[in-house]
Amino acid sequence: MTFMTTLLYIESSPRQQRSHSAAVARAFLDAYLTRHPEVELDTWDLWTPDLTLPEFDGAALSAKFAARSGLPHTQEEAAAWAEVSRHAQRLQRAELLLLSVPLWNFGVPYRFKHWLDVVTQPGLTFRPDPQKGMEGLLKARKALVVSARGGIYAPGSPTAAWDFVTPYLRHWLGMLGVPEVTVVGIDGTSISEARTQSARAGAMAEVQALATGF
Ligand SMILES: Cc1cc2nc3c(=O)[nH]c(=O)nc-3n(C[C@H](O)[C@H](O)[C@H](O)COP(=O)(O)O)c2cc1C
Repeated sequence: MTFMTTLLYIESSPRQQRSHSAAVARAFLDAYLTRHPEVELDTWDLWTPDLTLPEFDGAALSAKFAARSGLPHTQEEAAAWAEVSRHAQRLQRAELLLLSVPLWNFGVPYRFKHWLDVVTQPGLTFRPDPQKGMEGLLKARKALVVSARGGIYAPGSPTAAWDFVTPYLRHWLGMLGVPEVTVVGIDGTSISEARTQSARAGAMAEVQALATGF
């Protein structure tokens, strides 16, 4: 029996072919999967119209609190939790993670936040421990985040602190147990075409280099 390594790719820009974050992430995938044909790609486009992320309220929310307190689920909670678990397990079992994430209003797009709230679950993707703190349950040891931003947020730039996506995703992935998180930024896509093209070319070169050692 052969066990395949799964690379989960989360695409969170709705701009499809016009998305800079998706273009750079897909260039990484092309380079990486050419080198590693044994790796199975699981693509999760968060804006696919038929993707039905469950609402995270009502029974799903009370199921989460019951799970945290070790209480049994009601029938309605159990049904809601089964649906949440299906999504969380798709993230939990991936060995490698690639996320393309645009900066929207200094944070993540709302569909990405919805997904994150659904998949971040006690007993499924992390385990809260009163003594040890949070124990991450993701299998993945490595994550690559490709983030496109209209402005300039590179480390050392005057507006670097306005990028809340990079520290947020580093913190969140760390809590879920991913020790190695690499972020590639594409800065200045709202500034000019020339700025965009040079940022994209720089990011493309970065991900090509990363594809050899990921
Ligand atoms: C709803 C929305 C909000 C945005 N907010 C910001 C922002 O706060 N800061 C910024 O620099 N760019 C912002 N932008 C610009 C995007 O970050 C930029 O267009 C980026 O290239 C989007 O990524 P994508 O090309 O992968 O879709 C925003 C774009 C949209 C659509």
